[in-house]
Amino acid sequence: MEGYTIPQGAHVIPHIYAVHMNPDFFPDPEEYRPERFLSPEGKFTQPQQFMPFGVGMRRCLGDKLAEKELFLFFSSLIHMFDVTSLSPSLPGLSGKCEVTHSPHEFQIVCVPRKADTLIRLIQANAAKAFPSHIRTYG
Ligand code: HEM
Repeated sequence: MEGYTIPQGAHVIPHIYAVHMNPDFFPDPEEYRPERFLSPEGKFTQPQQFMPFGVGMRRCLGDKLAEKELFLFFSSLIHMFDVTSLSPSLPGLSGKCEVTHSPHEFQIVCVPRKADTLIRLIQANAAKAFPSHIRTYG
């Protein structure tokens, strides 16, 4: 394939990070620029090279579920907490490349935006999910 010989049965792992950090596809890839995903008309668009869930036959089967989970997780977190870094600088984007690519360890502080609202929400959700097992006090 394109000059490479891939032995039958070889385990091939696509290097998605290399595509996402390729400045030919995403100029200044280390910069946070949500407008990369907007068309000139201001509509949401997804470049062909954006592939967090892989491509082709082995593309992630849980992509829709994962997107919803991520949205709920991060929007709830940011809705409820002010998140700040304890370190003087952020960990950078080099990260640890293992099975997945994850950031180096760093510490954060999550401060409830409104403590009384948070307590009420926890109590309401705990009551729904674990009516007989969990009690929250606050
Ligand atoms: C942020 C969350 C997730 C990311 C970034 C992600 C990413 C990926 C990627 C890149 C692949 C393709 C691997 C390859 O090319 O061989 C993959 C495969 C797969 N993912 Fe996910 N995934 C996520 C969440 C999930 C969830 C929530 C499920 C199931 C509920 C799931 C189920 C699968 C399955 C079954 C495959 C294998 C598909 C196959 O080989 O035919 N993933 N995922």
